[in-house]
Amino acid sequence: MSRVQIIESSVRKDGSISRQLTEQFIAQWQAAHPADIIGVRDLAINPVPHLDADLLGGWMKPEAERSAEEVQALVRSNELTDEVLAADVLVLAAPMYNFAIPSTLKAWLDHVLRAGVTFKYTATGPQGLLTGKRAIVLTARGGIYAGSSADHQEPYLRQVLAFIGIHDVQFIHAEGMNLGGDFSEKGLNQAKAQLAQVA
Ligand SMILES: Cc1cc2nc3c(=O)[nH]c(=O)nc-3n(C[C@H](O)[C@H](O)[C@H](O)COP(=O)(O)O)c2cc1C
Repeated sequence: MSRVQIIESSVRKDGSISRQLTEQFIAQWQAAHPADIIGVRDLAINPVPHLDADLLGGWMKPEAERSAEEVQALVRSNELTDEVLAADVLVLAAPMYNFAIPSTLKAWLDHVLRAGVTFKYTATGPQGLLTGKRAIVLTARGGIYAGSSADHQEPYLRQVLAFIGIHDVQFIHAEGMNLGGDFSEKGLNQAKAQLAQVA
């Protein structure tokens, strides 16, 4: 059994291409592996808090010295890391906003990249602790950026996922979504066909 955690981040509830890809993923995954999807966290509906002094206090201070606010911030943050720790497969659905990821997804990553939980510092440098996991990233973009220096989604997400130990990462990009006509249709069909190959 491969437990799957899904993270949605498009602000659009209707007409979202990345949500359309997630929907396809869920349908095909559930057909092949019933009961494997352990959670769908929607960062547009329930944004996670930005890092703040209370959370840093909760992370850094010994338990006995934490304030009530720091404990509360820590409990909320632990929920996010627990979800990732429990998953074998992480599916991130991300629109391209201003050449990068939605700020809600960045805020989520700021919780998930956590020293002592998802990575640790060693004498030879940081080491990712989430070994044996796989990630699938479903993106939607208005233009066409894959492989170009303006793509600050794929290289960034590869870097942060590798940092926490996830090296098996597959990207599926629906590109040209705002170019209209043939471009949009071709880009979406291509992404859907690629996604259909994902086991
Ligand atoms: C605030 C905002 C910024 C965007 N920035 C970019 C961008 O930098 N590059 C791009 O190709 N498309 C950009 N787009 C277009 C979206 O990536 C595109 O509409 C995509 O389909 C959105 O994902 P969704 O359909 O899942 O909501 C932007 C859209 C919005 C709303």
